[in-house]
Amino acid sequence: MRKLLIATHNPGKRVEIEDLLAATPGGWLERFELWMPSALGLDEEVAETGDTYQDNAALKARALCQASGLLTLADDSGLEVDALGGAPGVHSRRFAPHPTATDADRRALLVEKLAGRPRPWTARFRCVIALAAPGEELRFAEGRVEGEILPEERGHNGFGYDPLFYIPELDRTMAELTRAEKNRLSHRARALLAALPLLEELAG
Ligand code: IMP
Repeated sequence: MRKLLIATHNPGKRVEIEDLLAATPGGWLERFELWMPSALGLDEEVAETGDTYQDNAALKARALCQASGLLTLADDSGLEVDALGGAPGVHSRRFAPHPTATDADRRALLVEKLAGRPRPWTARFRCVIALAAPGEELRFAEGRVEGEILPEERGHNGFGYDPLFYIPELDRTMAELTRAEKNRLSHRARALLAALPLLEELAG
């Protein structure tokens, strides 16, 4: 079995990737053993200093591949709201001035910034996955999901901006989807699906 390092300190992401691989035909979980950086003593966070999702995913994948010598998968994602010129985008996690801000604070700030602007407030989640392997060029895959920001929250599942992100075709917000439903259509799921042939190529 080939080791695959998931370049994140967030155990939730590892579970999500494991769920996605389990739900995808191809026996991925029999072929790849998922590792987290902490299990290898690699506890330092890689600073997300890039201007794009691709830059940040590349920074994380390259740094952890170099430190571990393993095939490495990193992702970076965010929410882009058209009426805000694509903000918060690559800064989605830090979209609130004070360092102790919560997801709820960030959602409140988003609605505050949109208040008074004509609806629908169209938006999308985007995710870029970078794959790194020793001696190989980085490979990238992207996934996105289109929707609208609502003025009020709906649903309690998921995290981040999910309670405000409405998907018109489903007439539900991301936070009203079950984990399995979100995993069928999320930006991360779509990016991972697009990354699988590249993973296959790199794994040899
Ligand atoms: P990262 O890719 O973990 O750095 O995600 C950046 C930020 O984007 C998160 O902290 C969330 O605010 C937002 N985000 C990314 N993916 C999702 C999602 O699936 N639901 C809600 N918010 C998300």
